[in-house]
Amino acid sequence: MKRIVVLISGQGSNLDAIVRASMDQDWPGRVVAVISNKAQARGLAGAQARGIATEVVDHKAFADRTAFDAALAETIDRHAPDLVVLAGFMRILTPGFVGRYEGRMMNIHPSLLPAFTGLHTHRRAIEAGCKLAGATVHFVSAELDHGPIVAQAAVPVLAGDDEQSLARRVLAVEHVLYPRAVGWFVQGKLALSGGNVAHVDGAPQWWMADA
Ligand code: GRF
Repeated sequence: MKRIVVLISGQGSNLDAIVRASMDQDWPGRVVAVISNKAQARGLAGAQARGIATEVVDHKAFADRTAFDAALAETIDRHAPDLVVLAGFMRILTPGFVGRYEGRMMNIHPSLLPAFTGLHTHRRAIEAGCKLAGATVHFVSAELDHGPIVAQAAVPVLAGDDEQSLARRVLAVEHVLYPRAVGWFVQGKLALSGGNVAHVDGAPQWWMADA
């Protein structure tokens, strides 16, 4: 069984989607621990209810990013993960931390990268007049919201959309996209080479949701 450790800061709806898919689809992998930098993150309770180990590493208790990342890495490594999954984990990570998990740490970002790295992606997509928005799962590299792209899902931007309505539409596809990408990893279906991620059986790594 591949061991997955998930890092969250908030509601953990992607975490929940991944846990459900791992059981429903009988993956050769399981979420063994959930770690949050916020004690009040709603996703922690959901994980506990499923009997998954939870830990809190509060970034405010550390003098700087390096000290926080060292404590976080120590906590992660106690669970001996094959894959670290960032699911709404709202901290910028140091290059040393990222390097430690190179090729085995994934993130989901609510835009079609490389467009709209950083925050407020939905508002920026609407302001830019984009007709498509979406989400990207990528391996984490030292540069924020960059790194080899594993899979992308696109949704239409509809007339009259505001930040909230677009965010809801994107989050709904995240709940399908992220479990799919994590499932591929634990099933050994991803090949990473020269910054490009291919699915070994040629499964489509993109998806267009209906309006
Ligand atoms: C998602 O939109 C994800 O793309 C972003 O943060 C949000 C997390 O939502 N990085 P949740 O905590 O998984 O519900």
